Amino acid sequence: MTNPRTKIGIIGCGDVLDMYMSSSHAFPTIEVAALVDTDPVNLKARSEQFGIPGMSLDTLLGRDDIEFLINLTPPAAHAAISERAFAAGKHVYSEKPLGVTLEEAKRIVASAQRYGRKLAGAPDTLLGAAHRKCRQLLAEGAIGEIVSASAVFMTHGMEHWHPSPNNYFQPGGGPVFDIGPYYIAALVCMLGPIQSVSAISSTGFAQRTVSAQGRNHGQVIQVGTPTTYHALLDFRSGAKASLSMSWDVWHHGRGAPIEVYGTLGTLVVPDPNMFGGTPILRDRHGQETPFDTSQLLLGAPHWKVKDKYRLDKEVTLTNYRMAGAADLVDAVRMDREPFTSPTLVLHVLDAMESILVSARQQQPLMLSTADVALPRMPSEDDIARIVGN
Ligand SMILES: NC(=O)c1ccc[n+]([C@@H]2O[C@H](COP(=O)([O-])OP(=O)(O)OC[C@H]3O[C@@H](n4cnc5c(N)ncnc54)[C@H](O)[C@@H]3O)[C@@H](O)[C@H]2O)c1
Repeated sequence: MTNPRTKIGIIGCGDVLDMYMSSSHAFPTIEVAALVDTDPVNLKARSEQFGIPGMSLDTLLGRDDIEFLINLTPPAAHAAISERAFAAGKHVYSEKPLGVTLEEAKRIVASAQRYGRKLAGAPDTLLGAAHRKCRQLLAEGAIGEIVSASAVFMTHGMEHWHPSPNNYFQPGGGPVFDIGPYYIAALVCMLGPIQSVSAISSTGFAQRTVSAQGRNHGQVIQVGTPTTYHALLDFRSGAKASLSMSWDVWHHGRGAPIEVYGTLGTLVVPDPNMFGGTPILRDRHGQETPFDTSQLLLGAPHWKVKDKYRLDKEVTLTNYRMAGAADLVDAVRMDREPFTSPTLVLHVLDAMESILVSARQQQPLMLSTADVALPRMPSEDDIARIVGN
């Protein structure tokens, strides 16, 4: 290892920061050395919470010893921050969505190229043990030829757990842009590129009242974006999938978040919003074979938190959100593309945006990135290097 602790700066110290910090111990090659937030009170509190210096964006961009940034600002701020970072010579890992439109995201990618910097983007859960195992099983032909898939995310939304959920209910938010990246990226990594989508949408509740504790408790939000989408995805391989993303559902009994159906059986895929879980193969007779991935790299549950949807319950999550940033650092060292590469991220964003437009226009849409050549997925050796083994 030439540089054991690469310094990283984080911009945006909101709700998701805890997730990132909870797994920073798992990546001994990187060190979070700076925090930035436009809210000085929040910056001070977060700086004290983690014992990491808080500073202005200008100060961070001027720091020669910090070459890597993680952009955890709200989606509408992503482009301006990432573009300034590239101009200052930094590499960037961006939370999703990369930009609020495909055009904006392409501009961000072009900016990285112009300044010769590397860019990677969420979701990085596809680096996780469960999703590597699923792709391995599919590549080995465990369910034969893939025919179709079904993906479902249905909850009652953000207002009961996120301390500032307003943006999530406005244009640029909604379940497809918020949670869709995990589901669509997982499907694309298993089934290949999507060529067209057809979708419908609705808004189940015109208003939301914030019930999460914090400064916005009791705030009434006027919902400005559809909160239920049902989409059909047509893959270049010929496989078809249905995708349901909703914040208008109190409870459902749909079981696994993603299932992939093949000529020989079914693969039950764990939560694509997490890194771990137990993939299950079901053969044509319904015989089940589970695969424990908790012993694999980025597979062990490690983060005890309150369940977002059942605040009286504690869960232990397999949530290694620093993995994408660690992959970016390794990609620069190895002079390779990050696994959560702009190519993959742009294709997923194209699918997300096309779902919204298809629903609005009530017609199927071809993806402009349908002919994309997806990057290779990480091997176990790649993951070992990324976690510093
Ligand atoms: N909250 C989650 O569970 C979660 C999970 C996965 C991904 N994400 C993604 O992470 C990003 C942040 O989400 P969040 O939920 O933490 O949002 P948030 O609203 O809780 O926090 C955003 C923070 O960024 C700061 N900020 C805003 N504009 C800024 C700027 N120009 N420069 C510096 N700081 C700025 C705000 O003051 C705030 O502290 C989003 O892209 C979201 O999609 C969130």
